[in-house]
Amino acid sequence: MIVAIDGPAGAGKSTVARALAQRLGFRYLDTGAMYRALTWLALEHGVGLEDGSALGALAEASPITFDADHVSIDGQDVTEAIRGPDIDRVVSSVARHPEVREVMRDRQRELAEQGDAVIEGRDIGTVVCPGADVKVYLNAERQIRAERRLAERPEIGADALATDLRLRDQSDAERMMPAPDAVRIDTTELDVEDVVGRIEQLVRERQPA
Ligand code: C5P
Repeated sequence: MIVAIDGPAGAGKSTVARALAQRLGFRYLDTGAMYRALTWLALEHGVGLEDGSALGALAEASPITFDADHVSIDGQDVTEAIRGPDIDRVVSSVARHPEVREVMRDRQRELAEQGDAVIEGRDIGTVVCPGADVKVYLNAERQIRAERRLAERPEIGADALATDLRLRDQSDAERMMPAPDAVRIDTTELDVEDVVGRIEQLVRERQPA
């Protein structure tokens, strides 16, 4: 069974998806980490972030692996490095190239085919796994999303962080359409446990008795 969890930055996807996967005994797949890892590698190699074909070729040539809580690209552990503001600010410029998305989509589908998984991203219910058994679109008011991000990245400062979030929302907007059959959950006033419980309920309803 595939559970697709989409939505903007700070909506609670990672925390919810991780907790849900653990509760269900499913694999957890963070597709944002794949775009982040590629962005990190492109910066390392000095590949221009406007150059879609070079970025697509780099993606094609660079395997990404997940091992427990660690993400590696091209054999290098980038778990920490991909969470900095330098990556936050440019990841959407990398993710917008069709050449990059095509490679990522195919890899994500291969991972999805390996069995039960909770997959979080922006286009999982629409593009990567349109046949997902459960589709959820998480959202929250921007102010709350910015506050959540600030708790994770206190060194950036509230104003810079709010600006970064607004710019990333704008850039990601085309890829953030909820699937028409996604269940929408506004997490502004919900805690993690409430959201996980609701999605778990949706999963149980679809699981064969
Ligand atoms: O979820 P996270 O904030 O880590 O995602 C980082 C970026 O990767 C997003 O801002 C978006 O530009 C891109 N992304 C995407 N499609 C996905 C997952 C992430 O375009 N499925």
